[in-house]
Amino acid sequence: MAGNYSTSYEESIKNPDKFWDKAAQDIQWYKPYTKVLDDSRKPFYRWFTGGELNTCYNAIDYHVEKGKKDQTAVIYDSPVTGTVRRISYGELLELVSRFAGALLSCGAGRGDTVILYMPMIPEALIAMLACARIGAIHSVVFGGFAPPELAIRIDDAKPKLIISASCGIEGNKIIDYKPLLDKALELSRHKPARCIVYQRKQANASLIPGRDLDWNTAMRDAKPAGCVPVKSTDPLYILYTSGTTGMPKGVVRDNGGHAVALKWSMKYIYDIEPGDLFWAASDVGWVVGHSYIVYAPLLHGAATVLYEGKPVGTPDPGAFWRVISQHGVKALFTAPTAFRAIKKEDPNGEYIRKYDLSGFKNLFLAGERLDPDTHQWASDMLKIPVVDHWWQTETGWAIAANCMGLEPLPIKPGSPTKPVPGYRVVILDGEGKELPNGTEGIVALKLPLPPGTLPTLWNNDEKYKESYLDMYPGYYFTGDGGYYDRDGYLYIMGRVDDVINVAGHRLSTGAMEEVIATHPDVAECAVIGAADSFKGQLPVGFVVLKAGVTGDQRDLVNDLVKMVREQIGALACFKQAVVVKRLPKTRSGKILRGTMRKMADGEDVKPPSTIDDPAILDEIKESMSSIGYGKKA
Ligand code: COA
Ligand code: AMP
Repeated sequence: MAGNYSTSYEESIKNPDKFWDKAAQDIQWYKPYTKVLDDSRKPFYRWFTGGELNTCYNAIDYHVEKGKKDQTAVIYDSPVTGTVRRISYGELLELVSRFAGALLSCGAGRGDTVILYMPMIPEALIAMLACARIGAIHSVVFGGFAPPELAIRIDDAKPKLIISASCGIEGNKIIDYKPLLDKALELSRHKPARCIVYQRKQANASLIPGRDLDWNTAMRDAKPAGCVPVKSTDPLYILYTSGTTGMPKGVVRDNGGHAVALKWSMKYIYDIEPGDLFWAASDVGWVVGHSYIVYAPLLHGAATVLYEGKPVGTPDPGAFWRVISQHGVKALFTAPTAFRAIKKEDPNGEYIRKYDLSGFKNLFLAGERLDPDTHQWASDMLKIPVVDHWWQTETGWAIAANCMGLEPLPIKPGSPTKPVPGYRVVILDGEGKELPNGTEGIVALKLPLPPGTLPTLWNNDEKYKESYLDMYPGYYFTGDGGYYDRDGYLYIMGRVDDVINVAGHRLSTGAMEEVIATHPDVAECAVIGAADSFKGQLPVGFVVLKAGVTGDQRDLVNDLVKMVREQIGALACFKQAVVVKRLPKTRSGKILRGTMRKMADGEDVKPPSTIDDPAILDEIKESMSSIGYGKKA
């Protein structure tokens, strides 16, 4: 399949069956598929129907059978606990099979859902792979989410079991997870029969007899379990992601398409060979963690770094360079915000020069727009290709990238380069008409999407259609705006909906508004994502009080900050709100959030023709400037 980018790209579009059939030869199947692309139920496309495989087998057992028992699979590097632990493919097989046995003895089996609420420890990866081994469907919930968010996911996924740990460690803070889990289970309607809890040295969780089981006890008593063949189209996992409302979307990932696409991506996008060391400095709670900490490196027979630390402060801005040189990382994948954090503390790259980075070949960044300044700084400091690539939880792997293993193309800062083979990326106007290069519009993907992308939402085909397909029939709506330049390079300019991106974390302003609206003094509110030079965006609330409400506005704002923190989580970074007399609206009553966001970012804004009362914009401008946003008067 080696060849230059345009040959591969064209082949993938002209003859997707042939292209992906060839890629699927790199995956081990128990039963061969009868169809590569099954379009018998449009617009619900499926890949490799009729086939049976096991993702865990492909990620572990297969490599052990091929003699790689002693090769390193995982390097757990945890500066917050002072630990470095190497796990070979052979050891990983032993641990995962044993935990798979523990899951079975707790009553979870093929087709059952299992929620994981875990910090960045090897047990998280072991639990995910153990689910895949027995055909159970995992759903990992990011540790930074508060109990109500966890409860929403428990009620939707209805897990047989929950796996957690006594605590997470955030820099120098110990976060007790068990009280958060207990609280979530108090709030949820669905009550799973069992919870397995990994006790860490830093905190001891109290276990509820009859319901909670200690991880080590479960492992000790378990019989190792083998791999269960599952259908290519069976779900491997559900990952909830923020949409425009408080109800997150349960993105489903299948087994077959996912394994094929991820294995392909390791070689052709990331230029990684089996045996190389790949590091995605993300979290297993996010899609980047699922795809590139856990599944892709292992499917490819490479080694992966599981890093429990931050880019700065654990202990210093040299943390990433220490890990890269100590373990021999060939490619690092992280979010631009991590680089902005490093740049802020080490603008001249003094820490970079302390380490031997000669084995470090490529830096990949994604998760939010890569601003040209950060791109430039990273390129100047590291003197290696800095590869921006664009994707989302829904797709599970990159939509647009510079495919370093196919043919590195010239880099243009600000652009994630060109569509990856398999993806037909188009720019549409409001009516769904394709726009020429140079014109900004809505970024959409022509159906069918390639393997590995979401086939639907969990138990909700209708919502899948409504959220992604109905808007522009024949296309998948990405939620992003952007354009192609004259050379066919794609530029992604930001979301056109109410999703925001804070420090690489995808959040819903709608969810924050739902929380704020429950405050007894609040009549109505709007939350927007305002540009922030460090975290990319930060949420800012605009609140209209109920008639007759008086009192100190600072107390109200403190209440709202606390509410969002307790109900969504600290990761929302909701710290600023201001009271306004009215919100700007269209004549039909829709809040003009887009206009407010532009004003907050200091752009020149003409009142939209649909606005009900343009004078409100002046009031909003004044309120914004009182908290440091918008154009200085
Ligand atoms: N568990 C519990 N709390 C968490 C958490 C977790 N897993 N992750 C974050 N939080 C908390 C933080 O402790 C912080 O709490 P605080 O308000 O009490 O200080 C809050 O959520 C905000 O966290 P964050 O936005 O991450 O800020 P930070 O200052 O701790 O770190 C960065 C800033 C840039 C270093 C960090 O956000 C980062 O590394 N981002 C990269 C994101 C990423 O990997 N995205 C995935 C796509 S590749
Ligand atoms: P998530 O689902 O958390 O991965 O977030 C996906 C969203 O992050 C996308 O829809 C984009 O808005 C944004 N995003 C991810 N990668 C990039 C990128 N390279 N450039 C611009 N925006 C990006």
